[in-house]
Amino acid sequence: MKKALITGITGQDGSYLAELLLDKGYEVHGVMRRSSVRTTSRIDGLLKEGRVTLHNGDLTDSSSLIRVIGEVRPDEIYNLAAQSHVGVSFDAAEYTSEVDAVGVLRILEAVRILGLGACCRIYQASTSELYGKVVTAPQNEETPFHPYSPYAVAKQYGFWIVKEYREAYGMFAVNGILFNHESERRGSEFVTRKITLAASRIANGLQDHLELGNLDSLRDWGYAKDYVECMWLMMQQAEPDDYVVATGVQHSVRDFTNWAFEEAGISLKWEGMGAEEKGFDACTGKMLVCVSDAFYRPTDVVNLWGDPTKARTRLGWDPDKTSCRELCKIMMAHDMELARNEKNAGA
Ligand code: NAP
Ligand code: GDD
Repeated sequence: MKKALITGITGQDGSYLAELLLDKGYEVHGVMRRSSVRTTSRIDGLLKEGRVTLHNGDLTDSSSLIRVIGEVRPDEIYNLAAQSHVGVSFDAAEYTSEVDAVGVLRILEAVRILGLGACCRIYQASTSELYGKVVTAPQNEETPFHPYSPYAVAKQYGFWIVKEYREAYGMFAVNGILFNHESERRGSEFVTRKITLAASRIANGLQDHLELGNLDSLRDWGYAKDYVECMWLMMQQAEPDDYVVATGVQHSVRDFTNWAFEEAGISLKWEGMGAEEKGFDACTGKMLVCVSDAFYRPTDVVNLWGDPTKARTRLGWDPDKTSCRELCKIMMAHDMELARNEKNAGA
């Protein structure tokens, strides 16, 4: 039985990947950091059934990583742990670098120090944020990087150190350059989930309105459940390589907002420009969406659009499985039920 170790197992992707690997017959282990509150809600089902083993550890703590990797001796490590919020990286730039840049080096070194370099494969969660201040679209594996936030700069180090260890030591280490992927398990501070939660709560009379930042920002949004399958495929190849994972279709934050409200039975009518733009309920005229400075970033990435040709042709991965519109529907079905439960609990 193959053994996998997932860092970031409590996160969105970690939880889907754990389920996928268990379905494929792996023994699954996860690294989890200590917190004063429970952070295992996404994997509680798996824990209850005793299907995953958790180990205390932290990407900022080499000795914990050496201990865990030495104990588990995994065939595959998926390094998904990160301070993953781009906006927060401007406020906690040094910590973001510790986790998202040096943390990757710590994993690679732990594997090397333990003498597992020849038998343990490593997946690194790289990101479309590396393209940052883009000059060409769509972006593929040949597109130059221009990271545009402390998060992206840290992730760029992670990308290059993985390539370096692959070439210097012949390690099987790959970068998945994943474009945005969302789900009903997405953290509520990311824009899609913030929108689906708000649209559901507004439709159920639990929230007055939604405040957003840049409505014109463009993203290539896919479904997280589909993307973890591509991570696994990259790790099963004869040779290590880096791949873009995306749907190949781009939408704006405004598009996603329209769809979410539509799913809640509300049609939005937009008026005004820039910071003055507002979304009104087309039936009642009530203002439901407005723009707030608080959600703008010092530098924002506004034009992400991936070209998944390499993943499609070499890995046989299907980028068309779930469209962004379908993704929004899935998230809204989940969040409408949450809102209804919240309403009933308060009634
Ligand atoms: P997420 O939901 O924010 O999960 C991040 C995970 O990392 C959580 O389990 C978190 O633990 C853990 N973590 C954070 N700091 C840590 C530390 N110092 N030591 C150990 N664990 C730590 O992120 P995600 O959306 O699943 O993304 C997974 C990975 O893919 C991240 O590296 C992200 O940067 C990258 N990525 C994501 C996307 C996307 O659109 N989702 C796209 C490209 C790349 P807690 O539960 O304790 O917070
Ligand atoms: N979070 C947030 N909140 N973003 C907003 C808001 C808001 O209220 N209003 C507009 N936006 C814009 C952001 O400025 C950004 O341009 C876009 O919506 C997407 O923001 P996020 O959902 O926070 O995601 P992200 O693209 O910055 O980062 C995510 O995707 C990356 C891959 O490209 C994260 O998952 C990263 O970890 C990942 O690497």
